[in-house]
Amino acid sequence: MLDPRGELAEWIRYLRDIGIKELHVPAAAPPAARTAASAREMPVRRPAADPRPAAPRKGASPESRPPATKPAAPASTPAPRAAPAPAAPSAALSGGLAAIREELGDCTRCKLHERRRNLVFGVGNPDADLMFVGEGPGADEDMQGEPFVGRAGQKLNEMIKAIGFERSEVYIANVVKCRPPGNRDPQPDEVATCSPFLFQQIEAIKPKVLVTLGAPATKLLCNTSVGITRLRGNWQEFRGIPVMPTFHPAYLLRAYTVENRKKVWEDLKAARARVDEG
Ligand code: URA
Repeated sequence: MLDPRGELAEWIRYLRDIGIKELHVPAAAPPAARTAASAREMPVRRPAADPRPAAPRKGASPESRPPATKPAAPASTPAPRAAPAPAAPSAALSGGLAAIREELGDCTRCKLHERRRNLVFGVGNPDADLMFVGEGPGADEDMQGEPFVGRAGQKLNEMIKAIGFERSEVYIANVVKCRPPGNRDPQPDEVATCSPFLFQQIEAIKPKVLVTLGAPATKLLCNTSVGITRLRGNWQEFRGIPVMPTFHPAYLLRAYTVENRKKVWEDLKAARARVDEG
């Protein structure tokens, strides 16, 4: 765990790394708006990822339980066939993250369950203003049951810090909740089965701004086949919520050019500004 000075140094290093020499912090933001400077001092509105069931709030509540853990099935052992399941979660259970998690249960709706260790539901502040949507869990996330905890997750954490948020202040989820084998892209049937739960998470959290990380999340939420390279940096919309598509942190790590880092920085700054607009 870094001390505050260490955190600040890390943040400054990231900004330098992407070629940012100065940061503009609005002098007089409206009291309700959280500026880059104030976000770190302000209390988080609700503790993140409390594993215990919580009292319902305005029809929504924090995610209620840790992901169900089960031993990984050996690749050679076919898992029992998935039981038929409803195509989408019932409207009656759309009221909160706990209910959505409950509805998912020990999900066997698509073939991704066969090899998963943990279902990766989502993490963060159930009242978040800013929500990030990735593609699907990787090996580390599958092991730990939490999104973005591996190398790409470290990069995402840096990105979140660079715009003045703590990881616990935002919400992070994925298009699919179980790891696609070999980190392949989620397939259309898997996305079709799992995405209603993501949509419900978004409806429950009601973020002011969504940031899609990479192609699958952008394609899904922006309902487009336009590639991420063309679409990133251009505001889109999902059910009335502004969406900023940007590169996936794993792509950034693979193509770690100043140009790409600057692009992501511009996208994130735009997202932050939109959050502050209210
Ligand atoms: N990549 C993703 O898209 N999601 C994760 O949770 C981890 C890596």
